Amino acid sequence: MAHLLHLDASARSDSFSRELGAVFVTHWEDAHPEGTYTYRDLLAEPVAPIDEARVRLATQSSLNGVKDLAAMDEVAAAAPELAGAWAATRPFIAQLLAADVLLIGTPMYNFSIPAALKAWIDRVTLPWLPLAGKSAVILGARGGAYGPGTPRQPFDFQEPYLRAYFSALGLEDVEFVHTELTHAPVMPFLKQFRDAHEASWTTALEAVEALAAGVPAEARASRTVP
Ligand SMILES: Cc1cc2nc3c(=O)[nH]c(=O)nc-3n(C[C@H](O)[C@H](O)[C@H](O)COP(=O)(O)O)c2cc1C
Repeated sequence: MAHLLHLDASARSDSFSRELGAVFVTHWEDAHPEGTYTYRDLLAEPVAPIDEARVRLATQSSLNGVKDLAAMDEVAAAAPELAGAWAATRPFIAQLLAADVLLIGTPMYNFSIPAALKAWIDRVTLPWLPLAGKSAVILGARGGAYGPGTPRQPFDFQEPYLRAYFSALGLEDVEFVHTELTHAPVMPFLKQFRDAHEASWTTALEAVEALAAGVPAEARASRTVP
């Protein structure tokens, strides 16, 4: 029975990445009637930034050769000064380990991911975290355009960062869908990009529906503004 963990990281309620996530979940649930679903809004329920005890937890996990939750429980039980940090971290790791599919809705903020999502990443990541065998779907929204061949392509530190992060943890099955030029509908000086934004949004919706329904990559539409 597949389990979907869904995180939202936009600071806005009227958000493109949140809407893409909602569409994904509707179609994923249709395709997985037996599936289970967990949701966390990282803005409504923020994850606390890491502190010194949380850093020491990672050090101790490496020094003790920790490979799983149970071993980490033992390390924390033997070091009372780490118990609070472990209690604040364990539920997020357990939630991630329980997931088969990780769905993240994330805006581009200052060319990268929002601090709310980075706080979750810093909290859950320990050297032994095994993510191989899981898949991830990243639904991004950005005000500009960063697709192949655009002047701003080298400024995209959102997709390359998340790709590198998940790859380092053994998770290679990562799909990205971006909707771009989201500033165009509201900014008069970008009105010449409104059609391109609409095309990007339509393509993103189609890609999200296909991904959620399990359509193979070669049969899906391209994902970024040409
Ligand atoms: C703090 C902040 C920083 C942003 N930085 C960028 C940026 O570097 N590049 C960009 O293209 N858009 C940037 N934007 C625009 C957002 O990426 C855009 O509004 C996007 O649609 C936000 O996602 P959402 O619709 O899911 O809220 C920024 C917006 C905010 C609020």
